[in-house]
Amino acid sequence: GEGPSSGLRTTPATHESAFLKACRREPVPHTPVWFMRQAGRSLPEYLKVREGIAMLDSCMMPELVTEITLQPVRRHKVDAAIYFSDIVVPLKAIGIDLDIKPGIGPVIAEPIRTRADLARLRDLTPEDVPYVTAAIGMLTAELGATPLIGFAGAPFTLASYLVEGGPSRNHERTKAMMYGDPELWADLLDRLAEITGAFLKVQIEAGASAVQLFDSWVGALAPADYRRSVMPASAKVFDAVASYGVPRIHFGVGTGELLGLMGEAGADVVGVDWRVPMDEGARRVGPGKALQGNLDPAVLFAPTEAVEAKAREVLDAAAGLDGHIFNLGHGVMPSTDPDALTRLVEYVHRQTAR
Ligand code: CP3
Repeated sequence: GEGPSSGLRTTPATHESAFLKACRREPVPHTPVWFMRQAGRSLPEYLKVREGIAMLDSCMMPELVTEITLQPVRRHKVDAAIYFSDIVVPLKAIGIDLDIKPGIGPVIAEPIRTRADLARLRDLTPEDVPYVTAAIGMLTAELGATPLIGFAGAPFTLASYLVEGGPSRNHERTKAMMYGDPELWADLLDRLAEITGAFLKVQIEAGASAVQLFDSWVGALAPADYRRSVMPASAKVFDAVASYGVPRIHFGVGTGELLGLMGEAGADVVGVDWRVPMDEGARRVGPGKALQGNLDPAVLFAPTEAVEAKAREVLDAAAGLDGHIFNLGHGVMPSTDPDALTRLVEYVHRQTAR
């Protein structure tokens, strides 16, 4: 068929799921819902199975990855699963010495700051991530018609962790390289695009029926800098998986001014955070793309009536769109009440049942 259709192993039932139909901008039985960071610390059953196991170790244990990925699907009845992993897993897999520190995030032992450092970013092959192929095989068998979303960090966001050495508020070393040594920067982003494209291919070939590229921190850039210094690498990632026909979702935080360019980079679905209403997001993205979003994750701390009123606002703003996937504007916060998420899924399904 035309445009995004289905992955290599996507079954007919999965192909017809509300989530994949919305990605393709086809009519849906109800607006599909999933939540970024739906697996994880908001769930007691997650904390239980993760007890005594470090985050990165857990990502390399296929049975555990399968269980954690399925937990939010069972509990909340979301319309899609997202593969349990982290954006730094492919970097770890090619031998970068890094760790995920609780309450902090990814920390890199030896940051990438010089041309000589680039040599440490070797190509990724399927043999580097056998646990990914194993877990996705188990997951697709268990998920039935529920689609599995694979994901990766986008070149800019990965570069920020690698150059800064860890999480950063202002990305000063990253921007210093981007503005001060554009050739080194372009080569770094190109290396990361190769690795990321290869990592997404592994997930699609194993059975993921959509992929999301997280450029979480790219909202730190002005549009002209994004276009010149980031977009070519993100476009290379999307191109690497274009031939599979699986929907490609692109998301970042604070990207109101970048939405059009992020679509242009090659996404089929553009993620919108809570700062831009969905109808305005659609205008900025332009025709031919589905949109995902965009309830402020902090709204989930308000009483049910307030959550439902804010969710209604999102649905109203998205009412005229061809394809809308309901999500939060960023990930679920760790102290969110899981029941609030379950109620929100029920509410969106009930309100949009056709
Ligand atoms: O969405 C899901 O449910 C799938 C799992 C997932 C994780 N990380 C698990 C995780 C996904 C999609 C990610 C992506 C990720 N990781 C992003 C992009 C998404 C975003 O939020 O913008 C980023 C920027 C990272 C880097 C990262 N990893 C951060 C900032 C943190 C939080 C550190 C902390 O403890 O506050 C992590 C760790 C991490 N990744 C956890 C989980 C469940 C928490 C660690 C734990 O449970 O011990």
